[in-house]
Amino acid sequence: MKDIGIYVHIPFCKQKCNYCDFTSYCNKDNLIKDYISCLKEEIRLRSNLNYHVRTIYIGGGTPSYIKPKYIEELLLEIEKNFELDVNAEVSMELNPGTATEKGLDDYFQMGINRLSIGLQTSNDNILKQIGRIHNYKEFEKTIQYARKAGFRNINVDTMIGLPSQNIYDIEKTLIGLIDMEIPHISVYSLIIEPNTKLEKMTQNKEVELPDEEMERYMYWYAKRKLEENGYIHYEISNFAKMDRKCKHNLDCWNQTEYLGFGVAGASYENATRYVNTSSLEDYINNIKNKENFKNVKIEEKQTKKMMMSEYMLLGLRKINGVNLTNFEIKFGKKVFDVFQKEITKLLTQNLITIDGDNVRLTSKGLDLANLVWEEFI
Ligand SMILES: C[S@@+](CC[C@H](N)C(=O)[O-])C[C@H]1O[C@@H](n2cnc3c(N)ncnc32)[C@H](O)[C@@H]1O
Ligand code: SF4
Repeated sequence: MKDIGIYVHIPFCKQKCNYCDFTSYCNKDNLIKDYISCLKEEIRLRSNLNYHVRTIYIGGGTPSYIKPKYIEELLLEIEKNFELDVNAEVSMELNPGTATEKGLDDYFQMGINRLSIGLQTSNDNILKQIGRIHNYKEFEKTIQYARKAGFRNINVDTMIGLPSQNIYDIEKTLIGLIDMEIPHISVYSLIIEPNTKLEKMTQNKEVELPDEEMERYMYWYAKRKLEENGYIHYEISNFAKMDRKCKHNLDCWNQTEYLGFGVAGASYENATRYVNTSSLEDYINNIKNKENFKNVKIEEKQTKKMMMSEYMLLGLRKINGVNLTNFEIKFGKKVFDVFQKEITKLLTQNLITIDGDNVRLTSKGLDLANLVWEEFI
């Protein structure tokens, strides 16, 4: 039996947010039904009863945009084709603008036990500016429905560095979430992605972004505020109360294997990384024509050295970093023997530190993580 995670991609949204370049479509609802039946076929094609599924993550796009019965069909298909752990973490992403009381009840009843809700900010003006389909009141209602349905394990996504955002907005957003006792909070730094509406708006000076120094200040402010309130900073962008860390993402950062189903679904299996096509039409047609192999592109077949580099890169995302003993158990080599040059350079630059049996980012490394990744790419 091999422990794995499963990711399922739902590439549909009600409306495209101005900053987002995830693979998601807002004008292809006519393909939802076909897409779900192709997803089920892909799950059957890759069936493996020797795979023990520890976590399922249904992401997007907006899984809460499509009918709950489709999500249930997908979960049932996974259960039939894999060995699902009785205590599996089953997460689903949800946009407050698509949540209903009945929908939340359905998700809980079908076995979803963790929600990841996109809020971004509690400031309604900013929500409008970035193209979100909901306001803060609707978010509060969503939390109320989720709790009533039985959900306890809840993440809320927030963003920093947003147009016209200031430190008081961050404070208000975080205090709101702390008061609601949300057990897991993600704090993402806005990335201006190429070819997004926000990129154009920024170029045309329609919106003004906080400068880099302010953005870093926001990050450290958020970190301090959350830590003061009992959250553990366990990954660059993630904070959780004691037992609420996301198992699925932690497994990914620990280089555990996973299967990704659907458009743009990424997989890591037998030291190989591969990804499905981002074209919804190709994905559906290839599965219908029994040519699933055409959907899959191998990105990387890893040598042992590549695996070790990636293990460092992923592991250093965690605040505890890479455990030296675990590295040696996994690879039969010492970190310092394999990466002497890289470790020495990063130690000299004060970007990493050795902390007992762990090597981890310093405060400077948290701000300049890109320089650390460069050493292991
Ligand atoms: C798939 S969405 C979450 C679920 C749902 N689609 C929603 O938006 O409510 C994943 C999260 O990624 C983050 N994100 C997306 N684009 C980003 C960007 N350009 N920069 C930083 N964070 C981004 C947002 O916080 C978003 O909530
Ligand atoms: S942020 Fe979420 S809702 Fe907005 S376009 Fe991206 S996936 Fe869709």
